[in-house]
Amino acid sequence: MLTIAIVFVALLLPALVLAELWRSRRVTVPDDAPEPQIDPVLSTAGMSRKIVFAMVALAEAFLLLIAYSANEPFRQSHASERQLELSVEAGAHTYVQYCLSCHGAQGRGFLENVGLPGKPLNRGDLQVLTGDDAASARKMVYQTIQNGRPGTIMPAWGVENNGPLNYAMIDELVALVNHGRWDVVDHIIKAEAVAIPTEPAITAANQVEVGRKIVTEGACASCHAVANTAARGQIGPALDGIASRQIAGVLPFTRENMKRWILNPPQIKPGTQMPPYSFREQYLEAIAAYLETLR
Ligand code: HEC
Ligand code: HEC
Repeated sequence: MLTIAIVFVALLLPALVLAELWRSRRVTVPDDAPEPQIDPVLSTAGMSRKIVFAMVALAEAFLLLIAYSANEPFRQSHASERQLELSVEAGAHTYVQYCLSCHGAQGRGFLENVGLPGKPLNRGDLQVLTGDDAASARKMVYQTIQNGRPGTIMPAWGVENNGPLNYAMIDELVALVNHGRWDVVDHIIKAEAVAIPTEPAITAANQVEVGRKIVTEGACASCHAVANTAARGQIGPALDGIASRQIAGVLPFTRENMKRWILNPPQIKPGTQMPPYSFREQYLEAIAAYLETLR
């Protein structure tokens, strides 16, 4: 708005001056006037005309400078918005290539698909944009991507750890997670027809098999090991023989107790490191049914 006003004045000024000069020329130089005898450059009329021109030029330059600098913050914020958009888009491409298979199309990990092992990344506490919390959330995300989570199946992706991602690519992933731009990931998945993993369908016949998949390849595998399976997590105890002992030393093993444990471990054993898992009933049942086979 301000810029438009300044540019308007900047255009109006020379127009007025030109009009004035045109008028005064006609008045001061009548048709029958004799040729001026003095050098026109030194004449007062010629002189003042030059001074007027110089002043107008100065005023013009000054006004344009003001218009330019008034516009500067806008130009800068526009440029950084554009930069952010490019980062997020690059991050989304990296995500689709390397992270989708564990963290899911909406970044909700095992919450969007019980067959996925990845922790949800589409969370409010990772989408804080200002203040100390924002800085520490970004740092946590950066370092987790760079170094992975030892003892879980979250791999280390940084080039320092022989991974495929340099610091700029990790920064782009951090921007994606921090700004919660899962819409961009969704856009790429649709535009490039990327296959997304489907949630295991459940029937009475495949219940134990689905449970095995969740425990040994999905949500539990990052922290627990089960002999002769893909599950090699080191954070929690190995689950072999779990049906023949108490759950975490506090609950007798029954299917119902197993479901209670998974839904809220800290409530049953305060201070435990196992987080709550809000799975739907049929999947809880499948997990419990599979664990019952581990005698
Ligand atoms: C093989 C499966 C797998 C892949 C692939 C994977 N992750 Fe993970 N990721 C996990 C698991 C499991 C966890 C949870 C680890 C834990 O419990 O501490 C995790 C945790 C994280 C966390 C920490 C979340 C938190 O709040 O603690 C971030 C951030 C993350 N992953 C980002 C990524 C990004 C970005 C990629 C792609 C470059 C990626 N992950 C690829 C399995 C995976
Ligand atoms: C982030 C890591 C983590 C994840 C993921 C995790 N657990 Fe745990 N789990 C633990 C830890 C740590 C313990 C030890 C708890 C204690 O005794 O305080 C534990 C204990 C257990 C126990 C008791 C083991 C025993 O020997 O008494 C069972 C059963 C169990 N978890 C099942 C599951 C299932 C099923 C899943 C997947 C839905 C799962 N856990 C996911 C960390 C995890």
